[in-house]
Amino acid sequence: MDQTFSIIKPDATKRNITGSINKVIEESGLRIIAQKRIKLTTNQAEKFYSVHKERPFFRDLIEYMTSEPVIVQILSGDNCVERYRAIMGATNPENAENGTIRKLFALNVQENSVHGSDSTENAKIEIDFFF
Ligand code: CMP
Repeated sequence: MDQTFSIIKPDATKRNITGSINKVIEESGLRIIAQKRIKLTTNQAEKFYSVHKERPFFRDLIEYMTSEPVIVQILSGDNCVERYRAIMGATNPENAENGTIRKLFALNVQENSVHGSDSTENAKIEIDFFF
């Protein structure tokens, strides 16, 4: 069974809407086969997002991702990497399609409620990082 990695981000845990997001995930047919609520350390967040370390938003991103707890998850289902990316919607909620998690819940391009792996290879790396 294919797997992908998901994070429900601080803007969502802070607003107490993790159940609403899980409902969208489950109604899509994907299964949440593992999840835990953790507070990322600065070191963990920097490692996880190291691909973005030269980007101008990197320091803000690390501060945001360590500001409140997150829910890290393993999702399963056929083609779940692509399916979860479709359900999440575009990174910037202004560009996200109706019915997607980011259109429904995200506040802005940074506080965009969820993360999902962008490939099967990265899903494995990201799952191994947290589970
Ligand atoms: P995510 O899919 O987790 O991958 C990198 C994260 O950086 C992204 O979601 C956003 O939270 C954040 N991000 C991406 N682009 C921008 C941007 N232009 N400005 C601020 N934050 C961004």
